[in-house]
Amino acid sequence: MSNNAYKDLEDAYNADADLTSPNVVYTASNGAPIAHPYTAQRAGTNGPLLLQDFHLIDLLSHFDRERVPERVVHAKGAGAHGEWECTDDFSDVCLASLFKKGTKCPLTIRFSTVGGESGSSDNARDPRGFAIKFRTAEGNWDYVGNNTPVFFLRDPAKFPHFIHTQKRDPATHLGGVDDATHFWDYLSHNPESAHQVIYLFGDRGIPYGTRFMNSYFGHTLKLVNKDGDWVYAQLHVRSDQGEKNQTDPEEALHASPDLMQKDLIEAIQKGDCPSWTMSAQIMTRKQAEEAWTTKGINVFDLTHIWPHKDYPLRKIGKITLNQTPKNYFSEVEQIAFSPSHLVPGIEPSEDPVLQSRLFSYPDTHRHRIGVNYQQLPINAPRTAYPMGNFQRDGAMAFFNQGGRTNFLSTTDPIQFQPRKVNADKVHADFVSNAVVFLSTIRPEDFNAPRALWEKVFNEEMRERLVMNMSKHMSTVKDKSIIERQIGIFRAVSEDLASRLEKATGIQGLKTLKGVTFRGCHNGMGGPDVVPANDLPHTEEYAYENGGPGQARPNYA
Ligand code: HEM
Repeated sequence: MSNNAYKDLEDAYNADADLTSPNVVYTASNGAPIAHPYTAQRAGTNGPLLLQDFHLIDLLSHFDRERVPERVVHAKGAGAHGEWECTDDFSDVCLASLFKKGTKCPLTIRFSTVGGESGSSDNARDPRGFAIKFRTAEGNWDYVGNNTPVFFLRDPAKFPHFIHTQKRDPATHLGGVDDATHFWDYLSHNPESAHQVIYLFGDRGIPYGTRFMNSYFGHTLKLVNKDGDWVYAQLHVRSDQGEKNQTDPEEALHASPDLMQKDLIEAIQKGDCPSWTMSAQIMTRKQAEEAWTTKGINVFDLTHIWPHKDYPLRKIGKITLNQTPKNYFSEVEQIAFSPSHLVPGIEPSEDPVLQSRLFSYPDTHRHRIGVNYQQLPINAPRTAYPMGNFQRDGAMAFFNQGGRTNFLSTTDPIQFQPRKVNADKVHADFVSNAVVFLSTIRPEDFNAPRALWEKVFNEEMRERLVMNMSKHMSTVKDKSIIERQIGIFRAVSEDLASRLEKATGIQGLKTLKGVTFRGCHNGMGGPDVVPANDLPHTEEYAYENGGPGQARPNYA
């Protein structure tokens, strides 16, 4: 594939998308003209249809296959195209070409809700996906973030379970609106979700459309500079429009169910192009080890945040959306993001949830839109060099790299670029014993949600949160779930727990000490960890939560 091939592909895509109906002759899919689209061939005016009628069979069989599977999560989305500009040089930290001051590149953003189906409302109380495909000269870099800086979980195997609690009941096919039992059942056994849950039921739980929300990568990345030095980083993308949320859930019910796409394209069409500023928080390896051992902040745990006062934001550049899609299916439904679509200079950290995502996204794309999904015009890289490899064939191999050898040949040599990143240095030393990892809930996990409740929220926000949450909990059938959940919120704040007790009329657990959680080990009672789900206490299980450097003692 040459870079020209993909430029030609882009041009061809645009030429097709820009055609107007008066310039087009109606044909079957093989290009043969057909005089009228509604006609069908039959044996006489009252007889059955004829198999020879390719036009009708072509029409019906294509229609029968119009759908690709919707995304298993983040199915409802909105998107637009725009540009990146690096306004503040960042090349001392990261050698990726887009972080050099003045560098511009085209990009596409897809915004989404998480749990709902592709026809669901944009005004759900749900995190929002915020994924950006940067088409850099060295390949596509996908920033796949959410509008919340933290997430519900930190153990990768929990993701399908948690998502299933958001989906329809396997027997009744009912969604969660009438019965939130599954949702709170999961949460009350996985207390590391407390921060994300408080965030979700607070004012930022229902953003207004897309233009007024921030995005956070959530996971820690490693950024490497040209000298091979690396740091841990958290990337933030903040709205230049400011924040706007739907704080009245009743009003949100009546807002356009397609508010994300409607508000976004109307703004761009008016020339009111939204923009965001990307910044980074940085920690050296030593700082990260200190953050873990002295403050209980684990950079490999995306339920933790890095306080801004200790790790200030450094501005990098600006993202502007200025072009609406010509065709939604081709440019938004078929776009395929992955946290593993990285470019030289940007490396994953050891965060186990990020590590599992590196696998999961390309895997689901191959299923959803096919093995050659990277060849679709919206996904095709726009590299500064002709690109090639030894991948061949498969369904819809639009480009198949001609007659070039399909193995590493000495007679037909391919070019290589020297490695820019010393992977051995960046990936450190991983040789170790295998452990069966599951995280342990510990007192430090409640520090950040406590700060959110006590310091970030004002009194009105707290009242709204308790109202939103208690209303949501009212459909839960098993009250022991709410007792446990309020016990979890008591570890965050006695104030929050007692307000919820008043609003729900249910007395929560007084302490988490000694509680057996189904989803995680319980370290709230000090060194005597209660294993998850009554697992036998064996050395096979690690109770250290996998922070960088030395294990953090349990400060109960
Ligand atoms: C183990 C954890 C996770 C797994 C296995 C997972 C898996 C997936 C899958 C399978 C999709 C559908 C992709 C597609 O069909 O195109 C998806 C979409 C998405 N995920 Fe995750 N996810 C995880 C956690 C997260 C986290 C922590 C974030 C944010 C920090 C996130 C952000 C997104 C976004 C923004 C999309 C939508 C991308 C788009 O617009 O096409 N996910 N995820």
